[in-house]
Amino acid sequence: MSEQWASFSLDLHLAIDRRQGLRGGLERALREAVQRGQLSPGTRMPSSRALAQELGIARGTVSQVYEQLAAEGYLLARPRSGVRVAPQPGPASGPVLPPAPSFRAPFDGHDLRPGLPDLSLFPRGPWLAATRQVLQSTPHAAFGYGDPTGHADLRTALADYLGRARGVLTTPEHIIVCAGYNHALQILCQALSRVGSTIAFEDPALPDYPALAANAGLRVTRIPVDRDGLVVGELGDEVAAVTTPSHQFPLGVTLSPRRRIELLDWARRTGSVVLEDDYDGEFRYDRQPVGALQALAPDLVVYTGTVSKTIAPALRIGWIVAPTHLVPALRDVLRFDETHLNVIEQLVLASLIRGGELDRHLRRCRSRYRHRRDHLGRAVATHLPGARLSGIAAGLHAVLTLPGPAGAEPDLLAHLTAHGVAVDGLSTFHHDPRASPLGLVVGYATPPQHSYDSAVTALTEAIRTAPHQP
Ligand SMILES: Cc1ncc(COP(=O)(O)O)c(C=O)c1O
Repeated sequence: MSEQWASFSLDLHLAIDRRQGLRGGLERALREAVQRGQLSPGTRMPSSRALAQELGIARGTVSQVYEQLAAEGYLLARPRSGVRVAPQPGPASGPVLPPAPSFRAPFDGHDLRPGLPDLSLFPRGPWLAATRQVLQSTPHAAFGYGDPTGHADLRTALADYLGRARGVLTTPEHIIVCAGYNHALQILCQALSRVGSTIAFEDPALPDYPALAANAGLRVTRIPVDRDGLVVGELGDEVAAVTTPSHQFPLGVTLSPRRRIELLDWARRTGSVVLEDDYDGEFRYDRQPVGALQALAPDLVVYTGTVSKTIAPALRIGWIVAPTHLVPALRDVLRFDETHLNVIEQLVLASLIRGGELDRHLRRCRSRYRHRRDHLGRAVATHLPGARLSGIAAGLHAVLTLPGPAGAEPDLLAHLTAHGVAVDGLSTFHHDPRASPLGLVVGYATPPQHSYDSAVTALTEAIRTAPHQP
Protein backbone atom coordinates (compact mmCIF):
# COMPACT_ATOMS: atom_id res chain seq x y z
CA MET A 1 0.00 0.00 0.00
CA SER A 2 1.41 3.35 -0.88
CA GLU A 3 -0.67 5.30 1.63
CA GLN A 4 -0.71 4.79 5.36
CA TRP A 5 -3.32 6.29 7.66
CA ALA A 6 -1.80 7.26 10.92
CA SER A 7 -3.85 8.24 13.92
CA PHE A 8 -1.93 9.40 16.96
CA SER A 9 -2.64 10.46 20.47
CA LEU A 10 -3.96 13.86 19.36
CA ASP A 11 -6.76 12.05 17.56
CA LEU A 12 -5.41 13.41 14.30
CA HIS A 13 -5.74 11.33 11.19
CA LEU A 14 -2.88 11.75 8.75
CA ALA A 15 -2.68 10.29 5.30
CA ILE A 16 1.03 9.54 4.81
CA ASP A 17 2.01 8.89 1.25
CA ARG A 18 4.86 6.42 1.50
CA ARG A 19 5.78 6.86 -2.14
CA GLN A 20 7.60 9.98 -1.03
CA GLY A 21 9.57 7.96 1.48
CA LEU A 22 8.77 7.79 5.17
CA ARG A 23 10.30 11.08 6.01
CA GLY A 24 8.94 12.95 2.99
CA GLY A 25 5.45 11.48 3.46
CA LEU A 26 5.25 12.37 7.14
CA GLU A 27 6.67 15.85 6.54
CA ARG A 28 4.12 16.59 3.87
CA ALA A 29 1.18 15.18 5.84
CA LEU A 30 2.03 17.32 8.90
CA ARG A 31 2.64 20.42 6.82
CA GLU A 32 -0.75 20.09 5.17
CA ALA A 33 -2.46 19.43 8.52
CA VAL A 34 -1.09 22.75 9.84
CA GLN A 35 -2.00 24.62 6.65
CA ARG A 36 -5.57 23.31 6.71
CA GLY A 37 -5.96 24.17 10.38
CA GLN A 38 -6.39 20.49 11.27
CA LEU A 39 -3.51 21.13 13.67
CA SER A 40 -4.19 24.53 15.17
CA PRO A 41 -1.56 26.96 16.53
CA GLY A 42 -0.44 26.07 20.03
CA THR A 43 -1.35 22.37 19.71
CA ARG A 44 1.20 20.21 21.49
CA MET A 45 2.68 17.57 19.17
CA PRO A 46 3.31 14.04 20.38
CA SER A 47 6.89 13.40 21.44
CA SER A 48 9.15 12.06 18.70
CA ARG A 49 9.33 8.76 20.59
CA ALA A 50 5.54 8.38 20.83
CA LEU A 51 4.92 9.30 17.20
CA ALA A 52 7.72 7.02 16.00
CA GLN A 53 6.24 4.16 17.96
CA GLU A 54 2.77 4.78 16.65
CA LEU A 55 3.95 4.91 13.04
CA GLY A 56 6.45 2.09 13.41
CA ILE A 57 9.35 4.21 12.18
CA ALA A 58 12.65 5.32 13.61
CA ARG A 59 12.57 8.06 16.22
CA GLY A 60 15.35 9.88 14.38
CA THR A 61 13.13 10.19 11.31
CA VAL A 62 10.42 11.91 13.35
CA SER A 63 13.01 14.23 14.93
CA GLN A 64 14.29 15.19 11.49
CA VAL A 65 10.76 15.92 10.32
CA TYR A 66 10.07 18.08 13.37
CA GLU A 67 13.30 19.99 12.80
CA GLN A 68 12.51 20.56 9.17
CA LEU A 69 8.99 21.81 9.93
CA ALA A 70 10.32 24.04 12.72
CA ALA A 71 12.75 25.54 10.22
CA GLU A 72 9.86 26.19 7.84
CA GLY A 73 7.85 27.94 10.57
CA TYR A 74 5.15 25.28 11.00
CA LEU A 75 6.34 24.00 14.39
CA LEU A 76 8.03 25.54 17.42
CA ALA A 77 10.44 23.46 19.46
CA ARG A 78 11.09 24.86 22.93
CA PRO A 79 13.14 23.25 25.65
CA ARG A 80 10.88 21.68 28.30
CA SER A 81 7.63 22.63 26.59
CA GLY A 82 8.01 20.15 23.73
CA VAL A 83 7.03 20.73 20.16
CA ARG A 84 3.99 22.85 19.39
CA VAL A 85 2.28 24.10 16.27
CA ALA A 86 3.54 27.61 15.52
CA PRO A 87 1.19 30.60 15.05
CA GLN A 88 0.25 30.79 11.38
CA PRO A 89 -0.22 33.94 9.33
CA GLY A 90 -3.89 34.80 8.63
CA PRO A 91 -5.34 33.96 5.25
CA ALA A 92 -4.13 36.12 2.42
CA SER A 93 -6.62 38.94 1.97
CA GLY A 94 -9.28 37.59 -0.35
CA PRO A 95 -12.79 38.68 -1.16
CA VAL A 96 -14.67 40.14 1.83
CA LEU A 97 -17.58 37.89 2.75
CA PRO A 98 -21.01 39.49 3.03
CA PRO A 99 -22.58 39.48 6.50
CA ALA A 100 -24.49 36.35 7.47
CA PRO A 101 -28.07 36.69 6.24
CA SER A 102 -30.74 38.00 8.63
CA PHE A 103 -28.31 38.21 11.45
CA ARG A 104 -28.66 41.32 13.52
CA ALA A 105 -25.38 42.25 15.08
CA PRO A 106 -25.78 43.25 18.74
CA PHE A 107 -25.84 47.01 19.26
CA ASP A 108 -23.29 48.46 21.62
CA GLY A 109 -25.59 50.87 23.43
CA HIS A 110 -29.30 51.02 24.28
CA ASP A 111 -30.90 48.46 22.01
CA LEU A 112 -34.59 49.22 21.58
CA ARG A 113 -35.01 47.51 18.25
CA PRO A 114 -38.06 45.27 18.04
CA GLY A 115 -37.81 41.52 17.62
CA LEU A 116 -36.43 40.16 20.87
CA PRO A 117 -37.91 39.30 24.24
CA ASP A 118 -35.90 40.09 27.38
CA LEU A 119 -33.36 37.31 27.01
CA SER A 120 -32.43 37.47 30.68
CA LEU A 121 -35.87 36.02 31.41
CA PHE A 122 -35.00 32.71 29.74
CA PRO A 123 -36.31 30.06 32.15
CA ARG A 124 -32.91 28.47 32.70
CA GLY A 125 -33.89 26.59 35.87
CA PRO A 126 -37.09 25.01 34.54
CA TRP A 127 -35.42 24.23 31.19
CA LEU A 128 -32.55 22.52 32.96
CA ALA A 129 -34.87 20.57 35.27
CA ALA A 130 -37.05 19.47 32.36
CA THR A 131 -33.96 18.43 30.35
CA ARG A 132 -32.79 16.30 33.26
CA GLN A 133 -36.20 14.74 33.64
CA VAL A 134 -36.48 14.06 29.88
CA LEU A 135 -33.04 12.44 29.77
CA GLN A 136 -33.86 10.29 32.77
CA SER A 137 -37.25 9.11 31.61
CA THR A 138 -37.20 9.03 27.82
CA PRO A 139 -36.85 5.55 26.27
CA HIS A 140 -33.76 4.94 24.11
CA ALA A 141 -35.94 4.71 21.02
CA ALA A 142 -36.61 8.46 21.19
CA PHE A 143 -32.98 9.21 20.34
CA GLY A 144 -33.39 7.96 16.79
CA TYR A 145 -34.61 10.06 13.86
CA GLY A 146 -37.67 12.01 14.86
CA ASP A 147 -41.08 12.32 13.25
CA PRO A 148 -40.66 15.06 10.59
CA THR A 149 -43.95 16.62 11.68
CA GLY A 150 -42.70 16.91 15.26
CA HIS A 151 -42.62 14.59 18.25
CA ALA A 152 -46.10 13.35 19.17
CA ASP A 153 -45.62 14.48 22.80
CA LEU A 154 -45.01 18.07 21.73
CA ARG A 155 -47.83 18.09 19.19
CA THR A 156 -50.17 16.77 21.87
CA ALA A 157 -49.00 19.34 24.42
CA LEU A 158 -49.32 22.12 21.83
CA ALA A 159 -52.83 21.11 20.80
CA ASP A 160 -53.84 21.36 24.43
CA TYR A 161 -51.94 24.61 25.13
CA LEU A 162 -53.05 26.42 21.98
CA GLY A 163 -56.65 25.46 22.60
CA ARG A 164 -56.47 26.69 26.18
CA ALA A 165 -54.34 29.82 25.73
CA ARG A 166 -55.22 30.98 22.23
CA GLY A 167 -58.57 29.32 21.51
CA VAL A 168 -57.11 27.35 18.59
CA LEU A 169 -59.26 24.40 17.51
CA THR A 170 -57.02 21.53 16.53
CA THR A 171 -55.70 18.02 17.07
CA PRO A 172 -52.06 16.83 17.24
CA GLU A 173 -52.41 15.42 13.71
CA HIS A 174 -52.99 18.90 12.30
CA ILE A 175 -49.83 20.30 13.89
CA ILE A 176 -46.41 20.49 12.28
CA VAL A 177 -43.55 21.50 14.52
CA CYS A 178 -40.93 23.53 12.69
CA ALA A 179 -37.90 25.73 13.27
CA GLY A 180 -39.75 28.97 14.01
CA TYR A 181 -42.11 31.06 11.91
CA ASN A 182 -39.53 31.62 9.22
CA HIS A 183 -39.32 27.89 8.58
CA ALA A 184 -43.11 27.58 8.82
CA LEU A 185 -43.46 30.18 6.07
CA GLN A 186 -40.95 28.37 3.89
CA ILE A 187 -42.84 25.11 4.19
CA LEU A 188 -46.16 26.85 3.57
CA CYS A 189 -44.89 28.73 0.52
CA GLN A 190 -43.68 25.49 -0.99
CA ALA A 191 -47.02 23.81 -0.40
CA LEU A 192 -49.03 26.82 -1.59
CA SER A 193 -47.01 27.28 -4.75
CA ARG A 194 -48.45 23.97 -5.95
CA VAL A 195 -51.95 25.43 -6.01
CA GLY A 196 -51.44 29.12 -6.73
CA SER A 197 -48.95 31.72 -7.77
CA THR A 198 -49.63 34.85 -5.69
CA ILE A 199 -49.54 35.53 -1.98
CA ALA A 200 -50.64 38.67 -0.12
CA PHE A 201 -48.76 40.31 2.74
CA GLU A 202 -49.73 43.21 4.92
CA ASP A 203 -48.15 46.58 4.22
CA PRO A 204 -46.35 47.49 6.45
CA ALA A 205 -44.80 44.17 7.46
CA LEU A 206 -41.43 42.70 8.27
CA PRO A 207 -39.79 42.79 4.80
CA ASP A 208 -38.07 39.42 5.27
CA TYR A 209 -41.29 37.48 4.85
CA PRO A 210 -42.51 38.83 1.49
CA ALA A 211 -38.91 38.40 0.33
CA LEU A 212 -38.94 34.78 1.49
CA ALA A 213 -42.18 34.11 -0.41
CA ALA A 214 -40.79 35.74 -3.56
CA ASN A 215 -37.68 33.61 -3.22
CA ALA A 216 -39.94 30.54 -3.09
CA GLY A 217 -41.30 31.55 -6.49
CA LEU A 218 -44.55 33.24 -5.43
CA ARG A 219 -45.66 36.63 -6.70
CA VAL A 220 -46.25 38.97 -3.78
CA THR A 221 -49.01 41.55 -3.43
CA ARG A 222 -49.00 44.12 -0.64
CA ILE A 223 -52.29 44.93 1.10
CA PRO A 224 -52.57 48.11 3.17
CA VAL A 225 -53.39 48.14 6.85
CA ASP A 226 -55.58 50.75 8.53
CA ARG A 227 -56.82 51.16 12.10
CA ASP A 228 -59.02 48.02 11.68
CA GLY A 229 -56.14 45.94 10.38
CA LEU A 230 -55.78 44.40 6.93
CA VAL A 231 -57.88 46.18 4.32
CA VAL A 232 -59.59 43.03 3.09
CA GLY A 233 -61.34 44.77 0.19
CA GLU A 234 -57.94 45.14 -1.51
CA LEU A 235 -57.38 41.38 -1.75
CA GLY A 236 -57.70 39.71 -5.15
CA ASP A 237 -57.32 36.07 -6.03
CA GLU A 238 -54.18 35.35 -4.02
CA VAL A 239 -53.71 31.78 -2.86
CA ALA A 240 -53.15 33.05 0.69
CA ALA A 241 -53.21 36.26 2.72
CA VAL A 242 -50.63 36.53 5.49
CA THR A 243 -51.78 38.55 8.46
CA THR A 244 -50.94 39.33 12.10
CA PRO A 245 -54.50 39.75 13.39
CA SER A 246 -53.90 39.84 17.16
CA HIS A 247 -51.24 42.56 17.03
CA GLN A 248 -50.35 43.78 13.57
CA PHE A 249 -46.63 43.90 12.95
CA PRO A 250 -45.43 46.61 13.23
CA LEU A 251 -48.43 48.95 13.72
CA GLY A 252 -49.93 47.00 16.61
CA VAL A 253 -53.60 47.30 15.60
CA THR A 254 -55.99 44.39 16.13
CA LEU A 255 -57.97 43.04 13.20
CA SER A 256 -61.50 44.24 13.91
CA PRO A 257 -64.39 41.75 14.26
CA ARG A 258 -65.94 42.98 11.02
CA ARG A 259 -62.69 42.58 9.09
CA ARG A 260 -62.27 39.09 10.53
CA ILE A 261 -65.60 38.08 9.02
CA GLU A 262 -64.77 39.79 5.72
CA LEU A 263 -61.42 38.06 5.56
CA LEU A 264 -62.88 34.63 6.13
CA ASP A 265 -65.59 35.38 3.54
CA TRP A 266 -62.86 36.29 1.08
CA ALA A 267 -61.03 33.01 1.73
CA ARG A 268 -64.24 31.00 1.35
CA ARG A 269 -65.20 32.79 -1.85
CA THR A 270 -61.82 32.51 -3.55
CA GLY A 271 -60.76 29.08 -2.26
CA SER A 272 -57.76 30.72 -0.58
CA VAL A 273 -56.40 30.40 2.93
CA VAL A 274 -55.58 32.95 5.59
CA LEU A 275 -52.16 32.58 7.13
CA GLU A 276 -52.33 33.79 10.71
CA ASP A 277 -48.97 34.78 12.19
CA ASP A 278 -49.64 34.76 15.94
CA TYR A 279 -46.11 35.80 16.87
CA ASP A 280 -46.86 37.61 20.15
CA GLY A 281 -50.49 36.75 20.89
CA GLU A 282 -49.70 35.66 24.45
CA PHE A 283 -48.85 39.21 25.45
CA ARG A 284 -51.93 41.34 25.95
CA TYR A 285 -51.95 43.73 28.86
CA ASP A 286 -55.20 45.57 29.45
CA ARG A 287 -57.81 42.96 28.76
CA GLN A 288 -58.22 39.31 27.83
CA PRO A 289 -56.01 38.22 24.92
CA VAL A 290 -57.70 38.40 21.54
CA GLY A 291 -58.38 34.80 20.56
CA ALA A 292 -56.88 33.31 17.45
CA LEU A 293 -58.63 34.00 14.16
CA GLN A 294 -58.24 30.30 13.44
CA ALA A 295 -60.94 29.47 15.97
CA LEU A 296 -63.55 31.07 13.71
CA ALA A 297 -62.74 28.87 10.72
CA PRO A 298 -60.17 26.08 11.23
CA ASP A 299 -60.76 24.95 7.65
CA LEU A 300 -59.77 28.33 6.19
CA VAL A 301 -56.99 29.51 8.48
CA VAL A 302 -53.44 28.22 8.77
CA TYR A 303 -52.34 29.22 12.25
CA THR A 304 -48.64 29.67 13.02
CA GLY A 305 -46.90 30.31 16.33
CA THR A 306 -43.40 30.43 17.74
CA VAL A 307 -41.47 30.43 21.00
CA SER A 308 -39.30 33.31 19.76
CA LYS A 309 -41.19 35.89 21.82
CA THR A 310 -42.51 33.72 24.64
CA ILE A 311 -39.20 32.00 25.47
CA ALA A 312 -36.30 32.76 23.11
CA PRO A 313 -35.52 32.85 19.38
CA ALA A 314 -32.42 30.71 19.94
CA LEU A 315 -34.61 27.66 20.49
CA ARG A 316 -35.87 27.82 16.89
CA ILE A 317 -39.18 26.16 17.62
CA GLY A 318 -42.47 27.10 16.04
CA TRP A 319 -45.56 25.37 14.72
CA ILE A 320 -48.12 25.27 11.96
CA VAL A 321 -51.70 24.32 12.69
CA ALA A 322 -53.06 23.37 9.29
CA PRO A 323 -56.57 22.94 7.95
CA THR A 324 -57.25 19.28 7.12
CA HIS A 325 -57.11 19.85 3.37
CA LEU A 326 -53.56 21.27 3.54
CA VAL A 327 -52.06 18.55 5.76
CA PRO A 328 -51.17 16.13 2.90
CA ALA A 329 -49.38 18.85 0.87
CA LEU A 330 -47.44 20.02 3.94
CA ARG A 331 -46.41 16.48 4.83
CA ASP A 332 -45.29 16.02 1.26
CA VAL A 333 -43.07 19.11 1.48
CA LEU A 334 -41.58 17.70 4.68
CA ARG A 335 -40.46 14.56 2.84
CA PHE A 336 -37.74 16.69 1.28
CA ASP A 337 -37.19 19.16 4.07
CA GLU A 338 -34.29 18.08 6.20
CA THR A 339 -34.76 20.71 8.90
CA HIS A 340 -36.09 18.25 11.45
CA LEU A 341 -36.00 19.58 14.95
CA ASN A 342 -33.92 18.40 17.84
CA VAL A 343 -36.11 15.75 19.50
CA ILE A 344 -34.77 16.32 23.00
CA GLU A 345 -35.63 20.00 22.93
CA GLN A 346 -39.10 19.19 21.65
CA LEU A 347 -39.56 16.85 24.60
CA VAL A 348 -38.29 19.48 27.01
CA LEU A 349 -40.75 22.05 25.68
CA ALA A 350 -43.56 19.49 25.86
CA SER A 351 -42.67 18.81 29.47
CA LEU A 352 -42.66 22.55 30.34
CA ILE A 353 -46.06 22.99 28.74
CA ARG A 354 -47.56 19.93 30.45
CA GLY A 355 -46.15 20.86 33.85
CA GLY A 356 -47.52 24.43 33.70
CA GLU A 357 -44.03 25.98 33.67
CA LEU A 358 -44.66 27.79 30.41
CA ASP A 359 -47.77 29.44 31.89
CA ARG A 360 -45.81 30.50 34.97
CA HIS A 361 -43.03 31.88 32.80
CA LEU A 362 -45.52 33.81 30.68
CA ARG A 363 -47.13 35.36 33.75
CA ARG A 364 -43.71 36.64 34.86
CA CYS A 365 -42.92 37.99 31.41
CA ARG A 366 -46.31 39.69 31.04
CA SER A 367 -45.88 41.50 34.31
CA ARG A 368 -42.39 42.71 33.40
CA TYR A 369 -43.37 43.84 29.92
CA ARG A 370 -46.48 45.60 31.19
CA HIS A 371 -44.30 47.64 33.56
CA ARG A 372 -41.91 48.46 30.78
CA ARG A 373 -44.69 49.50 28.45
CA ASP A 374 -46.24 51.73 31.12
CA HIS A 375 -42.87 53.33 31.83
CA LEU A 376 -42.37 54.07 28.14
CA GLY A 377 -45.89 55.55 27.93
CA ARG A 378 -45.23 57.86 30.90
CA ALA A 379 -41.86 58.96 29.54
CA VAL A 380 -43.31 59.79 26.12
CA ALA A 381 -46.26 61.68 27.65
CA THR A 382 -43.91 63.69 29.87
CA HIS A 383 -41.00 64.42 27.56
CA LEU A 384 -42.41 64.14 24.06
CA PRO A 385 -45.86 65.73 24.20
CA GLY A 386 -46.05 66.01 20.42
CA ALA A 387 -45.40 62.32 19.86
CA ARG A 388 -47.97 59.51 19.79
CA LEU A 389 -47.35 56.03 21.13
CA SER A 390 -49.56 53.36 19.57
CA GLY A 391 -49.92 49.61 19.32
CA ILE A 392 -49.34 49.32 23.05
CA ALA A 393 -52.23 47.08 24.06
CA ALA A 394 -50.20 43.97 23.33
CA GLY A 395 -46.87 42.57 22.25
CA LEU A 396 -43.32 43.65 22.89
CA HIS A 397 -43.05 46.75 20.75
CA ALA A 398 -44.82 50.06 20.17
CA VAL A 399 -44.88 52.61 17.40
CA LEU A 400 -43.81 56.14 18.24
CA THR A 401 -45.14 58.52 15.63
CA LEU A 402 -43.44 61.91 15.59
CA PRO A 403 -44.49 65.22 14.14
CA GLY A 404 -42.18 66.11 11.33
CA PRO A 405 -41.56 65.36 7.71
CA ALA A 406 -41.41 61.64 6.85
CA GLY A 407 -38.16 62.28 4.99
CA ALA A 408 -36.47 63.16 8.28
CA GLU A 409 -36.24 59.53 9.34
CA PRO A 410 -32.67 58.77 8.19
CA ASP A 411 -31.32 61.87 9.98
CA LEU A 412 -33.32 61.04 13.09
CA LEU A 413 -32.01 57.46 13.16
CA ALA A 414 -28.45 58.65 12.65
CA HIS A 415 -28.91 61.15 15.49
CA LEU A 416 -30.27 58.41 17.78
CA THR A 417 -27.40 56.08 16.93
CA ALA A 418 -24.93 58.85 17.68
CA HIS A 419 -26.62 59.15 21.10
CA GLY A 420 -26.24 55.43 21.74
CA VAL A 421 -29.82 54.39 20.97
CA ALA A 422 -30.91 51.86 18.34
CA VAL A 423 -34.53 51.65 17.16
CA ASP A 424 -36.05 50.80 13.79
CA GLY A 425 -37.50 53.43 11.51
CA LEU A 426 -41.15 52.80 10.64
CA SER A 427 -40.47 53.27 6.93
CA THR A 428 -38.29 50.12 6.91
CA PHE A 429 -41.48 48.10 7.09
CA HIS A 430 -43.37 49.91 4.34
CA HIS A 431 -43.23 48.59 0.81
CA ASP A 432 -42.94 52.19 -0.31
CA PRO A 433 -40.95 53.96 2.43
CA ARG A 434 -42.31 57.30 1.25
CA ALA A 435 -45.80 56.18 2.35
CA SER A 436 -44.67 56.03 5.96
CA PRO A 437 -45.24 58.80 8.50
CA LEU A 438 -42.24 59.82 10.57
CA GLY A 439 -42.10 57.10 13.20
CA LEU A 440 -40.02 54.69 15.19
CA VAL A 441 -40.67 51.08 16.14
CA VAL A 442 -39.56 50.66 19.73
CA GLY A 443 -38.89 47.17 21.06
CA TYR A 444 -39.31 47.71 24.77
CA ALA A 445 -38.54 44.10 25.71
CA THR A 446 -35.05 44.11 24.23
CA PRO A 447 -32.79 45.92 26.76
CA PRO A 448 -31.78 44.09 29.89
CA GLN A 449 -33.86 45.00 32.93
CA HIS A 450 -31.11 46.89 34.75
CA SER A 451 -30.67 49.38 31.90
CA TYR A 452 -34.25 49.68 30.69
CA ASP A 453 -35.06 52.97 32.40
CA SER A 454 -31.88 54.60 31.16
CA ALA A 455 -32.60 53.28 27.66
CA VAL A 456 -35.97 55.04 27.69
CA THR A 457 -34.41 58.24 29.06
CA ALA A 458 -31.72 58.11 26.37
CA LEU A 459 -34.40 57.60 23.71
CA THR A 460 -36.59 60.52 24.77
CA GLU A 461 -33.59 62.79 25.32
CA ALA A 462 -32.15 61.98 21.91
CA ILE A 463 -35.48 62.59 20.19
CA ARG A 464 -35.87 65.93 21.98
CA THR A 465 -32.50 67.08 20.73
CA ALA A 466 -32.96 65.73 17.19
CA PRO A 467 -32.88 68.11 14.24
CA HIS A 468 -36.67 67.73 13.76
CA GLN A 469 -37.68 67.39 17.37
CA PRO A 470 -41.41 67.03 18.09
C1 LIG B 1 -44.09 39.47 12.63
C2 LIG B 1 -43.26 38.36 13.16
N1 LIG B 1 -43.64 37.10 12.98
C3 LIG B 1 -42.94 36.05 13.46
C4 LIG B 1 -41.77 36.24 14.15
C5 LIG B 1 -41.04 35.06 14.70
O1 LIG B 1 -40.15 34.53 13.83
P1 LIG B 1 -39.31 33.21 14.20
O2 LIG B 1 -40.25 32.23 14.84
O3 LIG B 1 -38.81 32.74 12.88
O4 LIG B 1 -38.24 33.63 15.14
C6 LIG B 1 -41.30 37.52 14.33
C7 LIG B 1 -40.03 37.73 15.02
O5 LIG B 1 -39.49 38.81 15.13
C8 LIG B 1 -42.06 38.61 13.84
O6 LIG B 1 -41.67 39.87 14.04
